[in-house]
Amino acid sequence: MTYVHPTAIVDAGAQLGEDVTVWHFTHIRDSAILESGVSVGQNVYVDSDVHIGQGTRIQNNVSVYHGVNVGRWCFVGPSVVFTNDATPRVGNISWEVLETHLELGCAIGAGAVLRCGIRIGAFAMVGAGAIVTHSIPPFHLAVGLPARPTRLICACGQTNLPLGSDKSRLIGDCCMRMMDPRILAEAREWLAASEFDPAHLPAATPVEA
Ligand SMILES: CC(C)(COP(=O)(O)OP(=O)(O)OC[C@H]1O[C@@H](n2cnc3c(N)ncnc32)[C@H](O)[C@@H]1OP(=O)(O)O)[C@@H](O)C(=O)NCCC(=O)NCCS
Ligand SMILES: [Zn+2]
Repeated sequence: MTYVHPTAIVDAGAQLGEDVTVWHFTHIRDSAILESGVSVGQNVYVDSDVHIGQGTRIQNNVSVYHGVNVGRWCFVGPSVVFTNDATPRVGNISWEVLETHLELGCAIGAGAVLRCGIRIGAFAMVGAGAIVTHSIPPFHLAVGLPARPTRLICACGQTNLPLGSDKSRLIGDCCMRMMDPRILAEAREWLAASEFDPAHLPAATPVEA
């Protein structure tokens, strides 16, 4: 059952799916879409036109601005900072929204800052406090300032692997023990359908707007 805490504000027109939870002092704007099972913590702002995919969890103190696209089963840690304007100035006659994409199952550690115009790949993980200035490929763990991929990480997040490891190792025994079967199935499907191969990463490709 969907639950909205009495102190939260959900503007008319916002679409909340089944089993969505919205906690204290959070504001969901009019054209936002929260798919089923989404959990939005305390003091969160979800801007107009933002789409948050099934089962995603947004922790406390996060503003999800227009232009940020959040896929299914993502984890956004407390106080993560998104951006949507690469060169902000007050008073300019126009500005371009640069999009940010969080793909299936990725996780962003507490307090990370994401520069706009990037893509966090499926099941990638960003370490706490990272400053992310470039896209992170799927199933890569990135940390630091600026964030750099240091290792591969399995679908459940428990096992680290050296960069360039074989794709078949991205779902291991730990994943089968740990993961919600629905997310495990999606991880398998994603890997089967994707041309992504950590052993042969293509050169960085620009993020489509
Ligand atoms: C990045 C992360 C996943 C790595 O976990 P791990 O594999 O257990 O890492 P370790 O503790 O073994 O550390 C490995 C190295 O990475 C460094 N490191 C770990 N986390 C880091 C981070 N966030 N940024 C920079 N460096 C980091 C460690 O200092 C260590 O370096 P050293 O070998 O020179 O000492 C984890 O530290 C992290 O940041 N998790 C996110 C936590 C979070 O925000 N949760 C949100 C919900 S509360
Ligand atoms: Zn695992």
